[in-house]
Amino acid sequence: MRGHNAVTIGALLADAVNAYSGNGVVQWDIQRSQRKEEFNRLRKRADTFEEVVTNDQARGGYFATCRLGTPGQDLTLQLDTGSSDIWVPSSRAAVCRQSRTGEGGCGLGSFNSDSSTSFTVVGEGNFDIEYLDGSSSKGDYFTDVFEIGGATLQNMTMGLGISTDIANGLVGVGYAANEAIVGNTRSTSSVYPNLPVHMVNEGLINTVAYSLWLNDLDASSGNILFGGIDTEKYQGDLTRITIYPTQRDPDIYTAFYVVLTSLEAVSSSGRDTLTSEQFPIPVVLDSGTTLSYLPNDLASQIWKEVGAVYSSRYQLAVLPCDMQNSKGYFSFGLGGPSGPRINVTMDELVIDLTAGNAPTFSSGQYQGQEVCAFGIQNFTNSPYLLGDTFLRSAYVVYDLVNNEVGIAATDFNSTDSNIVPFPSSGAPIPSATVAPDQSEVTNRPAFTSPGFAASPGFLDTSATRNENAAAGMLAAFGIGQMMVVGVTMVLTALGSGLFFIT
Ligand SMILES: *[C@@H]1O[C@H](CO)[C@@H](O)[C@H](O)[C@H]1NC(C)=O
Ligand SMILES: *[C@@H]1O[C@H](CO)[C@@H](O)[C@H](O)[C@H]1NC(C)=O
Ligand SMILES: *[C@@H]1O[C@H](CO)[C@@H](O)[C@H](O)[C@H]1NC(C)=O
Ligand SMILES: *[C@@H]1O[C@H](CO)[C@@H](O)[C@H](O)[C@H]1NC(C)=O
Repeated sequence: MRGHNAVTIGALLADAVNAYSGNGVVQWDIQRSQRKEEFNRLRKRADTFEEVVTNDQARGGYFATCRLGTPGQDLTLQLDTGSSDIWVPSSRAAVCRQSRTGEGGCGLGSFNSDSSTSFTVVGEGNFDIEYLDGSSSKGDYFTDVFEIGGATLQNMTMGLGISTDIANGLVGVGYAANEAIVGNTRSTSSVYPNLPVHMVNEGLINTVAYSLWLNDLDASSGNILFGGIDTEKYQGDLTRITIYPTQRDPDIYTAFYVVLTSLEAVSSSGRDTLTSEQFPIPVVLDSGTTLSYLPNDLASQIWKEVGAVYSSRYQLAVLPCDMQNSKGYFSFGLGGPSGPRINVTMDELVIDLTAGNAPTFSSGQYQGQEVCAFGIQNFTNSPYLLGDTFLRSAYVVYDLVNNEVGIAATDFNSTDSNIVPFPSSGAPIPSATVAPDQSEVTNRPAFTSPGFAASPGFLDTSATRNENAAAGMLAAFGIGQMMVVGVTMVLTALGSGLFFIT
């Protein structure tokens, strides 16, 4: 999903060397980069990774390299659990032809369909995708050879962006019912096998499921594992929770809607149970959105705990960058009172806006301190989103056959691996137990103002104060370029009629 107004913070890149395919799983290793010019360089030579080249087209999200056509053309594409089509910008698209001087253009690659002998148009003018931020891509549906993580798929259906304002393609791995063609034809009979479904059809994996390990904000690698789980990438046990349909009778699943049922703020000075008129809150787990978006009443309590303030200039809640040293955390409860809890620490929630010379607060209580974006923002209406600032702290298994998510606390920086494939189509998530009392998710806790006992503990960063080593690594880019979008219009349309609580 391409999310709301979010901050570009980095990208994961395919590390082709570590791609793995076989025994019923396909693993796509992804490496995190702070900015786009790094991945341009990485594509040429990994050992020039740390060199800085200014490029103002930075975008958020997680990226990986794929190969397309015959002979193969390498393109770096954004991984997105919130949309369901693979699409690539055409080298004929105006956005890709902008400049020969290194400015603009499609630095992550574009697809020259004329030079692929296996390229076949299957839906002329039928590809049309639009995201919540108003960006869009239009063109043809086509089939061609697609290589990902060491696996080769013949006859993969994809979109060719001929008229688009987005300079990179996406790999949407969401529900097939959320494909752009379904929204455009208003008919689920136009569904085609998208990437995870096609992988099953081709016998590469056993069931339509994958696991996503984004890893630490400060780490350099993560991965997506199709068809299996990696038991060394999380702590404790995986707990299965229900994904709710976006539409009832018949049930149609278009997004990873789960239910946020509690939120606690915890620090050395105490703990607070935060409240919202909206509980239980349907939230979309969305790897294509950089920040997280919660209802206004809940967001303002979270901001009060950590001393974040809303900046009308950036249209974001911001806070001093020093707050990444705060030892407080938020505990997200999903799927009912005994459901999984994911703790998100402050160092995962304080996001640099720019390179070394960060903007500073010009007035007020934080005058002179460096401004960072806060990882939890407010939004007025559904869909509320748990984006990368939440997802990095969780290991998440998406099971699109049983409509369940398996979730556990991530094991940051784990270097071990123990891959367990799903044994068959429709098999439940391996090594996972179901959350016991999900029927109670409809219980609405009383709305009371918390006492903010945890707040002093959040605000005390003195004991752990250190210099921000990462700051110098970041490139400067304009706030205006930080839009990371992701919810397709299909979801928005269906999502407005969300009937999951009956
Ligand atoms: C290729 O995929 C399209 C769309 O899914 C399908 O209609 C067609 O039959 C496939 N062709 C082959 C040769 O598999
Ligand atoms: C993970 O590794 C990164 C990079 O080495 C480091 O900055 C970070 O603190 C590590 N995270 C944890 C939780 O150990
Ligand atoms: C998460 O936070 C809750 C609430 O403070 C605590 O009970 C639980 O042990 C924490 N879980 C982990 C894995 O640290
Ligand atoms: C977020 O909160 C700020 C401050 O209360 C408000 O001005 C802004 O309109 C809110 N944004 C949304 C999307 O509700």
